[in-house]
Amino acid sequence: MKTFSTTARLREALTTDRKAGRRVAFVPTMGNLHEGHLQLVRRARELGETVVVSIFVNPLQFGANEDLDNYPRTLSADKEKLFAEGVQYLFHPTVAEMYPNGTGEQSIVSVPEVSVRHCGASRPGHFDGVSTVVTKLFQIVQPDIAVFGKKDFQQLAVIRKMAADLCMPIQIEGVNTARSTDGLALSSRNGFLSENQRRSAPLLHKTLQECREAIACGFDSYSELEHHARLSLTEAGFEPDYFSICDARTLDGVTLDTEEIVILAAAKLGDTRLIDNVTLNFNPSADWGMLAAR
Ligand code: PAF
Repeated sequence: MKTFSTTARLREALTTDRKAGRRVAFVPTMGNLHEGHLQLVRRARELGETVVVSIFVNPLQFGANEDLDNYPRTLSADKEKLFAEGVQYLFHPTVAEMYPNGTGEQSIVSVPEVSVRHCGASRPGHFDGVSTVVTKLFQIVQPDIAVFGKKDFQQLAVIRKMAADLCMPIQIEGVNTARSTDGLALSSRNGFLSENQRRSAPLLHKTLQECREAIACGFDSYSELEHHARLSLTEAGFEPDYFSICDARTLDGVTLDTEEIVILAAAKLGDTRLIDNVTLNFNPSADWGMLAAR
């Protein structure tokens, strides 16, 4: 595996791969790699002949009071994991390489509608930071395929819309959320949880699953379900940010046109913000018994 910290050197290396007709599959990350990231890498290996992973903790997507400085940075362990997965290129740029004129001077890519609610409402500017850095990384790597996790469901929706709106010739691939045996979605931020918080954390996924089951059984008072979920999370020591039953395509309210529901949740346990989601195939005119919960 070769590691590059400059755009010029990575591009030079990738020219050879492209000339040889190799498809380039790209996995952008912020490092502190866990099994969830490695599943993205494995999917990238299935889809392309050359796999590029980036590790860049992007300051542009962190708010002033967020955990940029404390975000876990574990480069040498990450490198070992990527090498073991057969990754060809690691791109690990500095902040100055990515933002030579500073983040304040950076042109911004902003995706309307789908960026606005949920995490977009509680983390203003976050998705502008994500779509801007992902655009830059796409321009640098010029991948044929880019792989993202479905845990960040809204992020994936933002990137899909951005790629479509800006005619980016890149196949955007989503990979199912990797979980611990107790259901907790794997996340670099789980490492911030105390032992007690770690014991409570799987309740977020359990609450999402219970809500999905209630919908699959025909319960259609969504605001009541959302309210009940927020209440049980609060009672268990969470500070819920949102718990929303949405159309998986628009991330807005469920309508008669909804084909798939996503239930999105974000909640803080102490200082750690956890997010998760579950989906449900949905056809209100179908026999409820036929609904497939995933
Ligand atoms: O999901 C992440 O780790 C980040 O938001 C991403 C896509 C690498 C952009 O910084």
